[in-house]
Amino acid sequence: MTDNAPAPEHLTLEDLTVTHHTGTGTGRVVRAVDGVSLTVAPGEALVVVGESGSGKSTLARTVLGLPGRTARVSGSVRLSGTELLTLDDRALSRVRGRRIGYVPQDPDAALDPLRRIGAQVVEVLLRHRIATGRREARRAVPALLEAAGLTAPDRIARSHPHQLSGGQRQRAAVALALACAPGLLIADEPTTALDALVRAQVLDLFAGLLTTRSTALLLVTHDLGAARRIGDRVAVMRAGRIVAEGPADRLLTAPDHPYAAALVAARPGGPR
Ligand SMILES: Nc1ncnc2c1ncn2[C@@H]1O[C@H](COP(=O)(O)OP(=O)(O)OP(=O)(O)O)[C@@H](O)[C@H]1O
Ligand SMILES: [Mg+2]
Repeated sequence: MTDNAPAPEHLTLEDLTVTHHTGTGTGRVVRAVDGVSLTVAPGEALVVVGESGSGKSTLARTVLGLPGRTARVSGSVRLSGTELLTLDDRALSRVRGRRIGYVPQDPDAALDPLRRIGAQVVEVLLRHRIATGRREARRAVPALLEAAGLTAPDRIARSHPHQLSGGQRQRAAVALALACAPGLLIADEPTTALDALVRAQVLDLFAGLLTTRSTALLLVTHDLGAARRIGDRVAVMRAGRIVAEGPADRLLTAPDHPYAAALVAARPGGPR
């Protein structure tokens, strides 16, 4: 494999605002992300939590240049000095997958239903010239699937997405996102369809990448246990804004913002 040592990335958002303009003529505008500024440094995990509809996925997708057809975006998204909001589609598609790995909220959005898992991984490795040829790419597939917690990787590689369980599809989406060893990983609820054991495995995999490769991680989750386990910092979103931000330990154990406190208290089992 060539050029597989990733450059750690530094993500900086400044005053990022995303409005969705829906219902042509009716002028309905949803301010999904409202003046968000944040940074994720190499080797750091920022966990974004917040109630449903608070703008977490819109934030994640906008960083990838995929805010949606009806969206208008302003502010700044810089990846290690490169302004992403003004990149053209071609340049963006080189960043996506190579420098930024993305695990979408719905794993099926990451997977092509018509192609075998192995072929999809091969395609990503070839597209970003991580492997020099098809044979080399194929050889890399089992280890990539295994790293994402998939046992029997040869069988999984030969399977189409519909032949896998929901949890296996989610792990396949993780494998695809990590195939090119990106310097920034954005994962939107990557563990919701997983049982507790596999969830812990996937989080450990992420944590390992942070320490061994200095990957930066932007993790969206409802799971405050996951936030505590992996997060260096936590940002709490509400109605498009970040209403609280701080070290995971402090924010999740002694939240000083009433909304963050409510979120922690609402967690199943209460604050722990
Ligand atoms: N493509 C779109 N068109 C119009 N409105 C949208 C679009 N995507 C999101 N929205 C709206 O933007 C707001 C934020 O949605 P978003 O999906 O970012 O929230 P979320 O925090 O990820 O929620 P969840 O926890 O349920 O995944 C919501 O009001 C939602 O209805
Ligand atoms: Mg979401």
